[in-house]
Amino acid sequence: MKLLVSLLLCLCIPAVWAAESTTPKPDIGKGGQCVKDAQWMRLNHMHLLKHQRDETVRKGVREEQNSLKNCVECHASLSNNSVVAREDGFCVACHRYEAVKIDCFECHASKRRATLVTKDVK
Ligand code: HEC
Ligand code: HEC
Ligand code: HEC
Repeated sequence: MKLLVSLLLCLCIPAVWAAESTTPKPDIGKGGQCVKDAQWMRLNHMHLLKHQRDETVRKGVREEQNSLKNCVECHASLSNNSVVAREDGFCVACHRYEAVKIDCFECHASKRRATLVTKDVK
């Protein structure tokens, strides 16, 4: 039963989003392959990030792959290198729509590493 419910949820959410005309269209960024499949990420990225943060901050375990930095490396927009600078910036597009406020980027870099070091990207 539980499985059926989650299966239905998985199938319905994208369908609802696809039907809405005002659906957010986050700028995915660079591309490549996400750390998990997109469907799983849509529903679970917050747990992944929180788990990773706790592991790092409390136990000192640093795993590159699921780090917030790694998300930014791929998901920063190709136009401005940022995940938050525009309305459709990857990490804000859905959140605005869902009214979820995240303050992660007050401390964590919202830009790709390359532009943090060199400012030659126009
Ligand atoms: C190697 C590049 C790469 C990395 C690293 C990466 N992603 Fe992704 N991610 C992608 C791509 C490409 C997609 C789109 C895949 C698709 O639509 O099939 C995606 C999809 C997603 C989605 C679903 C987006 C949507 O509109 O449905 C979420 C949420 C997400 N990623 C969050 C994250 C988070 C959080 C991290 C860090 C823990 C991360 N990603 C790391 C490349 C990456
Ligand atoms: C007050 C500053 C601050 C805020 C706000 C903050 N963090 Fe962190 N975060 C840190 C510090 C400091 C570390 C430890 C960095 C280290 O030791 O590598 C960390 C580590 C992490 C890590 C593991 C290391 C990495 O690079 O991924 C993740 C994941 C993470 N935070 C996610 C988040 C998320 C998600 C949010 C927003 C909900 C957030 N943080 C908000 C300061 C902050
Ligand atoms: C496909 C849409 C989408 C994308 C893209 C997305 N998020 Fe989310 N995120 C959500 C939704 C929806 C929730 C709220 C889930 C809930 O209500 O439990 C959420 C919740 C969160 C939370 C938990 C907030 C809280 O108060 O507990 C964090 C942290 C988070 N997202 C971080 C990120 C980061 C960082 C990125 C960019 C790497 C990102 N998200 C990209 C849709 C998205």
